[in-house]
Amino acid sequence: MTKVNQKSVSRLSKDVFSVIYNTSVEGILAVDTHGVILLANKSCYQLFGYSDQQLIGMKVEELIPIKYKKDHIKHRNGYAQDPKPRKMGQGRDLVALRSDNSEFPIEVSLNHAEHAGKAIVIAFIIDITKRKNTEEALKRSEEKLLQYASELESRVQDRTKELAEAVENLEKLNSQLEQEIKIREKAEIEARKAFERERELNELKSRFVSMASHEFRTPLSTILSSASLIAKYNEKETEDKRLKHVVRIKSNVNDLTGILNDFLSLGKLEEGKIENNPTKFDLNIFLTELLDEIKSGLKSEQSIIYEPFEKNLEVNLDKMHLKSIITNLVSNAIKYSPKQETIKILSYLKKDDLIIDIKDNGIGIPINDQPHLFERFFRAKNVINIQGTGLGLNLVKRHVELINGNISFKSEEGKGSTFSVKLPVKTT
Ligand SMILES: Nc1ncnc2c1ncn2[C@@H]1O[C@H](COP(=O)(O)OP(=O)(O)OP(=O)(O)O)[C@@H](O)[C@H]1O
Ligand SMILES: [Mg+2]
Repeated sequence: MTKVNQKSVSRLSKDVFSVIYNTSVEGILAVDTHGVILLANKSCYQLFGYSDQQLIGMKVEELIPIKYKKDHIKHRNGYAQDPKPRKMGQGRDLVALRSDNSEFPIEVSLNHAEHAGKAIVIAFIIDITKRKNTEEALKRSEEKLLQYASELESRVQDRTKELAEAVENLEKLNSQLEQEIKIREKAEIEARKAFERERELNELKSRFVSMASHEFRTPLSTILSSASLIAKYNEKETEDKRLKHVVRIKSNVNDLTGILNDFLSLGKLEEGKIENNPTKFDLNIFLTELLDEIKSGLKSEQSIIYEPFEKNLEVNLDKMHLKSIITNLVSNAIKYSPKQETIKILSYLKKDDLIIDIKDNGIGIPINDQPHLFERFFRAKNVINIQGTGLGLNLVKRHVELINGNISFKSEEGKGSTFSVKLPVKTT
């Protein structure tokens, strides 16, 4: 180990101190306990803008803006009570005053020493203007950034709200469109139905014209020949013959009226003009009266037997529909049965349904024709020589369906047929 000379060490330390003191960028200030400046290095003069030696003897408070002076004196006295190395102005910004009264931010660290038996305070001062500026610039850009971020956020929120509104509007529009489409589709279906009805009605009319020209010819020529014969039979002795022809005319006119009535009801049913208006009435009374009317059309020695299973059976039905159904079915039974045959009519209840059977022992229906029986204008092969339009059963089916019932039949060619009508009725 090299021996170190104490004297040379002390000289070295003085030299090192002098270099630090004179070249340091920090301002170094020595102040007595009253705040009087005892010593200031070159940097101090540059920092505070004073010329050589001017600082010596000045109060340190002269280097501080007036507003902080009082506080500084308090702090300085405090430090004198408890001197130890520390940073000055912890937690607050320190501001210094130049000779030209301009202010600048500083950072100060304090130290204490003793000189000639008196306490002195040594302050190291750094101008932190640049740092503060950078900090402030940073703060400003940070604030700007924050502001930008919050603007961005509120713009995003606005945009999201607009989008949500747009989506909601689109959804509304969509459901409106769906609604419109539904309405249009419904209207289209209605229009198609109406068109279909119109087409069917036109077809019906044209078929009626061709049917009428065929079916009307025979009764009309009968009427014509009977009428001309009546004109000839003007003698008293020919009274019987005249009356016979009058009866024939009446029956032919009746037939024609029947065809026209059938056609008119079919037209009304097609147009949906006929409704279901049920009323309460006694079924047996109604059927007995109706069958009495129909009996006038019976062939010689034909008879009708009505067998009601229930007495005083009150039903709730549309009389007009029921009359049309029974009249058509019984007229067929009469028409397609030979003379002397008996037609049986039964009525009974099956749960909440009323069943009416019309049974004949007539010519029956060929098996191949049976599937088409309820079609408009359809007539079986075995009835070519019997008058008819083929409208009756079609009408019956429509009436039955209008009152929520159904119709079925069983038949064997040459043996007879039974038509069975099932109608929902509420009995009391
Ligand atoms: N009771 C029955 N016995 C045998 N055939 C029948 C009977 N009822 C109906 N038919 C057959 O069904 C066809 C259709 O009957 P529908 O009552 O519709 O017409 P139609 O009797 O020929 O003419 P109309 O329109 O004058 O009644 C008849 O032409 C006939 O072939
Ligand atoms: Mg008929």
